[in-house]
Amino acid sequence: MTRLVDMEQRGEDSLIEGSLRPQNFQEYIGQGKVKEQLKIFIEAAKLRDESLDHTLLFGPPGLGKTTMAFVIANELGVNLKQTSGPVIEKAGDLVALLNDLEPGDVLFIDEIHRMPMAVEEILYSAMEDFYVDIMIGSGETSRSVHLQLPPFTLIGATTRAGMLSNPLRARFGINAHMEYYELNDLTEIVERTAAIFETEILPEAAIELARRSRGTPRIANRLLKRVRDFAQIKGEGIINREMTHQALTMLDVDQEGLDYVDQKILRTMIELYNGGPVGLSTIAINIAEERETVEDMYEPYLIQQGFIIRTRSGRQATAKAYEHLGYPLPGTN
Ligand code: ADE
Repeated sequence: MTRLVDMEQRGEDSLIEGSLRPQNFQEYIGQGKVKEQLKIFIEAAKLRDESLDHTLLFGPPGLGKTTMAFVIANELGVNLKQTSGPVIEKAGDLVALLNDLEPGDVLFIDEIHRMPMAVEEILYSAMEDFYVDIMIGSGETSRSVHLQLPPFTLIGATTRAGMLSNPLRARFGINAHMEYYELNDLTEIVERTAAIFETEILPEAAIELARRSRGTPRIANRLLKRVRDFAQIKGEGIINREMTHQALTMLDVDQEGLDYVDQKILRTMIELYNGGPVGLSTIAINIAEERETVEDMYEPYLIQQGFIIRTRSGRQATAKAYEHLGYPLPGTN
């Protein structure tokens, strides 16, 4: 039996995220623009007693796309069924999921860009007109069966909008771009999580932790757990700024929030390729990471913070990268 509901092997992270997950827009901190739009569309759909238009959430990992999908379903007052692109192997797997929906329900497909093509094609008619045509049997005895579906909302999440095929992208009525969190929002999330953990954190420590979490709640919450351990063993349990700094330094998270891998990417570019331009695959091979991991998880923040720029012929380290890592600027000595 194929596992249709993917529990993902994030282990501790998914456990943390499950228990910390905000249930509604009121509790959901940040992503103000996305929330503001969705609130209106949800209210309008409810007023007309219709299903919400299909919604595509995109943005780097850890920004709360799954959480947002659950919040949307909660605000709509409907059930959410969850799966992910790579887990749906056959068209039949998807049909089984679709057939199981109640009118108005949300089907959430994480990593929707990683769905096999044969599965994706089933989605077209399902999304557009709420039906699927499936082939039953094989050879001479095969026939097509028309299956009517209840109106439903597909919420797709993807790290890169560019990875989606045009026909699929065109079928989403709502496109929501998740952004890296602002410092004050991320600080509030750290304080909220600390309160749930019943851990005391001083305001300046919460700011420091948020500042060094790459604008990403998943990272902030993960680091908070480690800083809490540190404060409990090395201090008196209260998280102050000094504890935070010491713990993050031990974890190789630097002043700008760059971790070991971020730093390795920049050092590789500077030391081996004179700062670039260098291709993404070359960088990935040099630091022994998957190209996709570098592209989805590391590069977007390095670009957003101005450590890297994308050029026609590859990625280039900026003066900020040289300065931050203590290298002399090329051509200055
Ligand atoms: N925990 C993780 N992300 C969150 C968010 N956006 N709002 C509230 N709590 C969170």
